[in-house]
Amino acid sequence: MRKQIAAANWKMNLTYQEGEKLLDDIFDAGTSLAPHQHAIFAVPYPYLIMTRSEVAEEFNYHVAAQNCHHKKSGAYTGEVSVDMLQSIGVHYCIVGHSERREYNAETNAMLADKVNLCQENGITPIFCCGEPLDIREAGTQNEFVAAQLRESLFHLPAARIKGIIIAYEPIWAIGTGRTASTAQAQEMHHFLRSVIADHYGKDIADEIPILYGGSVKANNAEELFSSPDVDGGLVGGASLVAADFTAIISALK
Ligand code: 13P
Repeated sequence: MRKQIAAANWKMNLTYQEGEKLLDDIFDAGTSLAPHQHAIFAVPYPYLIMTRSEVAEEFNYHVAAQNCHHKKSGAYTGEVSVDMLQSIGVHYCIVGHSERREYNAETNAMLADKVNLCQENGITPIFCCGEPLDIREAGTQNEFVAAQLRESLFHLPAARIKGIIIAYEPIWAIGTGRTASTAQAQEMHHFLRSVIADHYGKDIADEIPILYGGSVKANNAEELFSSPDVDGGLVGGASLVAADFTAIISALK
């Protein structure tokens, strides 16, 4: 079975102490994962080492960075490189979240560089894509999202694309409480898998986890994840509450 993944994106929330307590509360709940199920915490940079230690004890729990720089090293004050993440034992990194595309002017080409650097350092990119509201209203979301994949991922050889996790996050559903319907999520995930299949073949497309993100909550996760092409979620707000994220982990197929 394809990997099923519940990924928490804390964004710029919680103090160190609050983050540590949240992890303790989640692990105290004792939610165990099947071999094909994974839970990932994308935490702020200063909490990566603490989180890495916390997840080390737990089966199939992992830590992720929320971003990395697109250059290997150099005079980029305040930035964090992939080498740095690798050197502290981080094996996952969110790449291309819509908030970074919008507020930090990240382009598809820049994200292709990040994907390459991550993979060269043994870090699995969690590659985000998704359309804004005006594109959804114009009905051109498929072309928009397919171009994001093409321009940031399709330079990869087949052996590398298999190592990517994709997160489809429609921007109009992020932090708005307006979740995509189960049918809308399934339709886009199925389409994305077909775009990958056209380029790399069906076997490879069938291996790649595609997560849904955008107002995933404890009370809608099970229904969203029940769709055949939805392999879990990338969760913002609800990942900050132990009981809610625990319920979302439990909703994985
Ligand atoms: P919300 O779950 O708060 O809508 O955030 C989704 C998201 O952006 C996860 O990366």
